[in-house]
Order: sequence, then structure tokens, then C-alpha cells
Amino acid sequence: MAETTATALPKGFRGAELGWPKLHRIPHPPHRIPFVGDVLGADPRRPLQDSMRHGRRLGPVFRRKFFGREIVFVWGGRLVADLSDESRFAKHVGLGVANLRPVAGDGLFTAYDHEPNWQLAHDVLAPGFSREAMAGYHPMMLDVAERLMDRWDAEQAAGRAVDVPGDMTKLTLETIARTGFGHDFGSFERSRPHPFVTAMIGTLTFAQRRNVVPGPLSPLLLRGAARRNEADMAYLNRTVDEVVRDRRAADGEGDLLDRMLRTGHPVTGERLSPENIRRQVITFLVAGHETTSGALSFALHYLSRHPEITARAREEVDRVWGDVARPGYEQVARLRYVRRVLDESLRLWPTAPAFAREARHDTVLDGVHPMRRGAWALVLTALLHRDPEVWGADAERFDPDRFDARAVRARPAHTFKPFGTGARACIGRQFALHEATLVLGLLLRRYTLRPDPGYRLRVAERLTLMPDGLRLHLDRAAAAPPAPPVLTEAPSPARCPVTGAHD
Ligand code: HEM
Repeated sequence: MAETTATALPKGFRGAELGWPKLHRIPHPPHRIPFVGDVLGADPRRPLQDSMRHGRRLGPVFRRKFFGREIVFVWGGRLVADLSDESRFAKHVGLGVANLRPVAGDGLFTAYDHEPNWQLAHDVLAPGFSREAMAGYHPMMLDVAERLMDRWDAEQAAGRAVDVPGDMTKLTLETIARTGFGHDFGSFERSRPHPFVTAMIGTLTFAQRRNVVPGPLSPLLLRGAARRNEADMAYLNRTVDEVVRDRRAADGEGDLLDRMLRTGHPVTGERLSPENIRRQVITFLVAGHETTSGALSFALHYLSRHPEITARAREEVDRVWGDVARPGYEQVARLRYVRRVLDESLRLWPTAPAFAREARHDTVLDGVHPMRRGAWALVLTALLHRDPEVWGADAERFDPDRFDARAVRARPAHTFKPFGTGARACIGRQFALHEATLVLGLLLRRYTLRPDPGYRLRVAERLTLMPDGLRLHLDRAAAAPPAPPVLTEAPSPARCPVTGAHD
């Protein structure tokens, strides 16, 4: 049983009944069953989509109970804006994120807010996402994208459809491995996913299953899965240890791994410990590719279904890039419409679909719901992004023009949160956006995408989201008439990769 003292918060899972004194004000699904809770009709493989279904019926704040564990979910625009107030709320490490602690420990993503290694690693690694660092990664991103296109050319010539999520995962894994760690997994030379990817998917899926399998029964129900998970974690650790060993023996390349190994804190000079470096490398290899791969896959799905949007995006690529074979770093940020396609895909399917916030001290959410210090709620980004009060009655429709500058300015703050919020927002946001915009630009220029007419979007969940079984047919796009590249529009000014990230 959890214990509370004046200073320490209870350890382990903190159910809503501990922290929300007026919990009865928050609706829950009908037909709650004693002991088991709100499990009627639940799909354990799609917990997010289940919660979306309930949220649509129950409203902007609701609760669900699974085997005695009660959770508050929030998705209404006003409530999320309140939870984004950094002076009252902080990141809560719970559920799936806490389940990743055995493998990622106090790495940047899974660190508790109060752990000293979070600030240390943040300060050491943030310069690795500066504009200057990003410009250095750009040619490597291009090299990897060219390897993807070699593969897609061959598939197209053979008349075969391409496996979009599979190939986007290869692309994004190779990109983060190469740019962050000078490592090559050889994904494009393999017919099956690299064992690192298989082990990573295993640990993510296991972390998600531990959310939905009742605590007391989990040792029994998940015995086999837990054993496989041990093996997956051991494989991830071995792979990372090899990457680090190779680098220790070689000269630095000025990348993320170099920062981890050789750079001290800008003020104190303190270094990351070897154990923490192992955690960070796993964190970046996983967080740095899985979500971007999903974002690219959803964007390609929507492009294949909307020829008029594709034509507009392609016209922009031709106009902005002209016929340069390898677009420069600055030319990527100028693809404003392509970027809107990406934003709109992340709106409908934010590939990290939820994040948790906890009260720093006793407070009242939205002036209505009292919360004790440490009480927390799960923000359902995927529903926030479909709130009709914010996005209109046609919120389910794919429309990149929702992200033109005027429309963005007209919306309230904190209504688009695919990268989380506050100090713990995604450190890799600019990295992901640059990589994905570059790759979409290159693919739009080279191919026309033909959907499989029988395909209906199914979304697979393993903490992150991915279009399940998406395959596309490719035709080579006709070359555009040569046009001079446009160089007049100024790129957006540099800004902090993290603090400027959340709106
Ligand atoms: C489209 C791609 C991406 C999406 C949608 C995404 C989303 C997110 C979200 C929602 C969070 C906050 C999670 C929370 O509050 O619990 C986060 C944190 C984080 N992301 Fe990303 N991410 C993406 C790409 C990347 C990339 C490319 C990297 C690294 C190169 C990365 C590294 C991280 C790290 C290290 C954190 C933890 C930051 C901290 O707590 O200080 N992400 N991401």
C-alpha cells in the first residue's frame, strides 16, 4: 500500500483516488464491473483508441479504472492549457513511460523530474540540437534518404509495392544511428528488420501490455513475455555497449555520442557516468526513430489519398528546390506547405499519442477539479487535436491549411502538442521535423504514390502509433520543368531547440 509523508510522494502507481478529492465529479464509462473496472469491450492491443472512443462519449475530462487502478484522462483544449502551466504542473513519469525504466533508467525521456541526471544530460546534450549541429547532420540525413530511394527505385522497377512503415523505420533508425552515434546498422541491406528494431518493438510492446494487465496477475500472465523482454533488453544493452566501445577506441566525430563521452556540463564540468551514457544511447536510438518513422508513414498515407494536396506539395518542392540534386540545409525549412502536411498528419495521429502531467503542489484544475500534490492526469493528444471547439466540426478531415500562419495565430495556445510540453518537451523536435520534411520533399519529387484501393487505415499501438500494414505502389514522377531555386524567403530565426519547442 502506498504511503504519503509531508515531503515524499507515494512510490509506484498513484491511483486517482489518492490525489483527486472530488473524483466523483469526473465521469467514467457506464457498466463499471466491481474489481475489474471499465474493461467491457476494451481492446488490450489498442488502449489509446479505446480511450479515444470513451473520451468522445464522456467529454474533455474522464476516468477509467482497470483492476483497481484508476486514471484521469484529459483532452479538452482549456484543460490541457491549464495542465501546461509549468509553474503548477510537471511531467509525470508513469504508466508506459515508467514501464520503460528497466531499460532506459534515468535517461532523458524516462528520468523523474527531480533526478539530477535529467538536468545534467539536458544541459550537456541540448547543444547537439542547435541549428549549427542540425546543419552538420543534414548531409548525413541526405545520404540515408538516398539509400532509401535506391531501394524504392528497385521496388518500383520490379513493380512491387513498398512496405511504408518498415522502410520508414529503416530510414529513421539509420539516420539517428549515423548522425548521433556514427553507427551503421545496415538496415537497407537486410530483408528483415534489424534485430535491434525487433528487440526495441518487443520492449515497447511489453511496456504497453504491463499497463493493461492487472498488477497482481501480471507475473503470472506475462511470465513468458517478461522472459522475452529480459532477452530484448539484454540485446539492446549489448548493442549499445558495442557502439560505445568502438567510439571510445576511435577519434570523436562531434556527434551526440561524443558529447556524452567527452563533454562536461557547460557550468560545472560534470560528466555523464558510463551507466547513464548507456541509458542515453538507448533512449536516443529508440526515441530518435520510432516516432519519426510513424509520422512519415502517416504523412505518406494521407498524401497517397489526396492527389490535390500532393500536387500542391510537389509544386512547392519543384519551385523551392529547382533541379538541385541535393537540397541544402536552408532549403528544407522553406518547404512550408510540406511542413504543413507533416503537422496535419501529426495532428490526426500524434505518434507519441499521450503525455502525463502531475501537480507540483495542491491546485485546482481549470478552477473545478481539486488535485493534491503529486496527483496526475494523462493528456490524450490524439483527442486534443480533434477537439471540435478548437479545430471545428470537420476536425477529422485532413487539411494541411489548418497550419497556415494565419490559422495558427488564430488558435488558442497549447492546442497542438505532438512534442509534449514545457521543459520536458521533445529535445529532438527540430531534428525530427527537418528529417521528415527533407524526406517527404525528396519522395514527392521522385515518385507518385498509389494507394492500395482495399486498404483502410488501421493504427497499430506499441506506446507509439503506426499505420498498420500500409503498402504503397510507386510510379516515377515526371521530371518538373527546370526552375531556378527560390532564395528570397528568409529561413525562420534560430531558437532554443527545447524551450521554444512547445507551441
Ligand atoms: C515526430 C517525431 C517525434 C515525436 C512525435 C516526439 C514526441 C515526443 C514527446 C511527446 C515527448 C514528451 C514525452 C513526455 O512528456 O512524456 C518527447 C520527448 C523526448 N523526445 Fe521526442 N519525439 C519525436 C522525435 C524525437 C527525436 C528525433 C529525438 C532524438 C533525436 C527525440 C528524443 C526525445 C527525448 C530525449 C525526449 C525526452 C526529453 C526530456 O524529457 O528532456 N524525439 N518526444
